[in-house]
This record gives sequence, structure tokens and C-alpha cells, in this order.
Amino acid sequence: MSVHKNKPRKVTTHVLMEMKHTGEKIAMLTAYDYSMAKILDKAGLDVILVGDSASNVIAGWETTLPITLDQMIYHGASVVRAVDRALVVVDMPFGSYQGNSKEALNSAIKIMKETAADAVKLEGGKEIIESVNRIISAGIPVMGHLGLTPQSINKFGTYTVRAKDEEEAVKLREDALLLQNAGCFGVVLEKIPAKLAQLVTKDLVIPTIGIGAGAGVDGQVLVLHDMLGITQEFSPRFLRRYNNLFEQISGSVTSYINDVKAVDFPNNKEQY
Ligand code: KIV
Repeated sequence: MSVHKNKPRKVTTHVLMEMKHTGEKIAMLTAYDYSMAKILDKAGLDVILVGDSASNVIAGWETTLPITLDQMIYHGASVVRAVDRALVVVDMPFGSYQGNSKEALNSAIKIMKETAADAVKLEGGKEIIESVNRIISAGIPVMGHLGLTPQSINKFGTYTVRAKDEEEAVKLREDALLLQNAGCFGVVLEKIPAKLAQLVTKDLVIPTIGIGAGAGVDGQVLVLHDMLGITQEFSPRFLRRYNNLFEQISGSVTSYINDVKAVDFPNNKEQY
């Protein structure tokens, strides 16, 4: 008898491939901790990305650059402990793979060993392809990330839409094919014109996951804290807010403060 009898069918990279071919869209969100990951998994989300956006929304840094490999591993392991069904992808942080392919492989192995995640994600195309090849050769599934790549913010200087001109669009399509040929199981396309994202999606047999890349992709990803309305200052056009948790949490905390000050909490039933 299987000890995993009551567990739901795990989403694998093969399941994502099937979804592309049947046309079922892939739903992906970020998560960084056990409690949120549990909610997302129970709700039936396909993919959880332990994004290096933790650097912004959890640690409060302005960019994704400061987060370390050990910090990503802490978040990754916390998420994996909560999840039964979703595929869990952990972002390789800035500085953990750009140096050389040996360093990249060591970082990817450390992530897989210490988090038990299903896959890693790296930003970039041609310039990191040697690292991608080496990680995949070691049996580690890799997701690519093209378009706006926040780890290169200091090179580009802005978070505006990428690949609007022909030259950059051609390079992006070539990079997507390179990543596919290297064996990536999917590619995130961030903040690029919808028409280009649709073309890349047609070029590839592996799924594309868009963020600010329109509807012609195989799936969508958003940063959890943005779509729940926990963050307030970040309002790009592509972001749909499904809640306003900043106000809801703030309202609950205000009620709690008032109750404590008024000696209304705890009442007779809330004590021993
Ligand atoms: O770190 C992150 O949250 C990401 C998504 C924006 C795709 O890479």
C-alpha cells in the first residue's frame, strides 16, 4: 500500500508540457513561506515560484540583487515543506550562476539538495547557456527567464518594456530557442510586447509563462504580494489586484489595537 495514498497528483515538468499541447493554461504565482505556499497549493495552483522577488517583498530591498543563495534556500525549503501538488521552482539568485558554469552547477545542486524543490530558474539567454547546459546535464530541470530580467537592472537602468525594437526582439526569439534546445522545460517572458510573446510561444514546444506579456502565452505568473494587494506602491499596467490585503490587514490591526487599549480584549471567554 502506498504511503502517499491521499496525496493529489503531483504537477511535473511533463504535466506542464501536456498542458501546453492540450491548451490548458498554466497558473503560477510566487511564494516564499510555508503558510502562504500551503494556501496556494490547496487552491490548486500549478506552479509555485520561490522568486528572488523575495528580496523586494520580504526583505525590503529595492532590487533582487542582494538576496543570497542561503536566503533563497531558506525560502525554498519553507515552501517545499508545505506543498503536495504544485511544481516548485526556485530562483537562482544574482551571483550564484553568472561567474562560470561550474559555480552555476554547484549552486543549483545546493538548491536541489537543501530545498528538495523540483527545478531552478535562471535569467538570461546566450550569455548563460553554458551554465544551463551543465545544470541540465546533471539532471536538474531548468526554467529560463527572458525579456525584463531584474537581476540585470544595473545594465539596463529601467524596468520598462523590453524587446520593443527589432534587434532585441530577434535576439529574444533566438535566446528562447537556445534555451529550449538546451533542454529547459519552460521559459518566463517578462514585460515584452504581447505580439512578440505570442510569436515565441508559437516558436517553442515548451511552455511560455508570461508576466506583462499578454494573453498569447501558455501560462501566467504574478508576484503574490502584488496580486493580493499587500504591496501598494507597485502598479504596472499588467498587474491585476485580486484583493487589497494591505487595507484588510491594517483594518484588523487597528481593531486589535483599539480592543487592547479599551481592555475589551481578552474578554472573560478568552482567558483561563
Ligand atoms: O522573482 C520573481 O518573482 C520572478 C517573477 C517576476 C517571474 O522572477
